[in-house]
Amino acid sequence: MARKQLHLAAHFPGVNNTTVWSDPRSRSQIEFSSFRDLARTAEEGTFDFFFLAEGLRLREVHGQIHDLDVVGRPESITVLTALAAVTTHLGLAATVNATFNEPYELARRFASLDHLSGGRAAWNVVTSSDAFTGENFRRGGFLDHADRYTRASEFVSAARTLWDSWTDDDLIADRRSGRFAAEGAGRFSHRGQHFDIAGEFTVPRSPQGHPVVIQAGDSADGRDFAAAQADVIFTRHGTLEAGQAFYADVKSRLAAHGRTPDSLKIMPGVSVVVGDTDAEAEEKAAHIRSQQVSGATAIATAELLWGIDLSDRDPDGPLPLQDPVVGSGVVRGRVGFTDPVATVAQWREAAESHGWSLRQTVIAQQNRQSFIGSADTIARQLDSYVQADAADGYILVPHLTPGGLDDFVAKVVPLLRERGVFRSEYTGRTLRDHLQLPTPQGAASGAA
Ligand SMILES: Cc1cc2nc3c(=O)[nH]c(=O)nc-3n(C[C@H](O)[C@H](O)[C@H](O)COP(=O)(O)O)c2cc1C
Repeated sequence: MARKQLHLAAHFPGVNNTTVWSDPRSRSQIEFSSFRDLARTAEEGTFDFFFLAEGLRLREVHGQIHDLDVVGRPESITVLTALAAVTTHLGLAATVNATFNEPYELARRFASLDHLSGGRAAWNVVTSSDAFTGENFRRGGFLDHADRYTRASEFVSAARTLWDSWTDDDLIADRRSGRFAAEGAGRFSHRGQHFDIAGEFTVPRSPQGHPVVIQAGDSADGRDFAAAQADVIFTRHGTLEAGQAFYADVKSRLAAHGRTPDSLKIMPGVSVVVGDTDAEAEEKAAHIRSQQVSGATAIATAELLWGIDLSDRDPDGPLPLQDPVVGSGVVRGRVGFTDPVATVAQWREAAESHGWSLRQTVIAQQNRQSFIGSADTIARQLDSYVQADAADGYILVPHLTPGGLDDFVAKVVPLLRERGVFRSEYTGRTLRDHLQLPTPQGAASGAA
């Protein structure tokens, strides 16, 4: 049987504690040159796509911006549109929330990005909602967890209706006449529980027909949503065992939606540390972990998890004895722990059995580095994980901006190519081509 081909993406770090901002090699998270340089490295490495996460409001602890959050980040689709002009093949993926936006506006923006990039747009549909973030949209406390996915699913269906609203005939009429398209072009109607919209869509069908849809969410509802609607899943299940379990679970949900297993690509977010030898990589990885989690970062992370003020704690001392307080109000914004009580129990058990301090526990539990070793070790591992159905590929999260993937592209990518599991050059133009996904019927060929 032919070996599976790997898919690779580059994550531009945003609001997180993966990036070591204190490293002198780290550059701005706002200036265009940072985005451009990482994108160019990814394109040199013939990656499938470049990925931007989204944070709509900086978290606060006691009214202060949280230690882990980077102040200031530009809007993703705008950044990707600029990147479209300085890249030629790289897919361009933006995370945009389905809870706070409207289908007409978002479908229009993604179709536009798809046109301007020649078929390289992707939308990572997220559903995060907390009242604090919702205030930005006059939607504080908007929608509970289950409703977020019914809205997201209907949102994507409505977007697809809009993307399908121009037929090939409309476009041909438009080209011949040189005027706006034939009457009726782009006419649409969607009536559902969350959206009741009808009108005319102004963007002709884009090169991919439908921009690639990515999903990031882990609950059963999230997985079902992905099985129904997504082309790619971005997940945290990056280890071999967890990856295989997640992969089997999600792929088994596809048949119910009339889909085949290869129509949904599973791509965990992982970090990679490349060294000249395995031993040198281990040393480098330990150094990176200690830079990623300073004492202050350990306390800040613990405050998110416990929901209480821990500013007087010694990060090199034991874990707090208190139980976590869910919804305490001390922390505002996306916390990132779905079950704090279970997570604290898990952390306590790990700390006790290893004799870890709070900081060591945060490092071990939060900053796991997925692939550490020489280029040869990493290439072999990545390949073997993909062949063992732990993933279809990986979204690489570098710890430096924008140079964090330089080593990977220079040293690991050539070995993956030698192994015959990763492209040496782009063979298609669109992101759907790179991901080996079909283009939805009705696309206006050569429209770009
Ligand atoms: C790997 C991964 C990446 C995510 N990235 C973002 C993001 O950039 N912005 C955001 O608002 N939410 C993000 N989310 C949150 C999800 O959209 C979702 O709201 C959250 O996981 C809760 O849904 P669930 O209960 O189905 O997991 C991410 C989730 C995962 C698993």
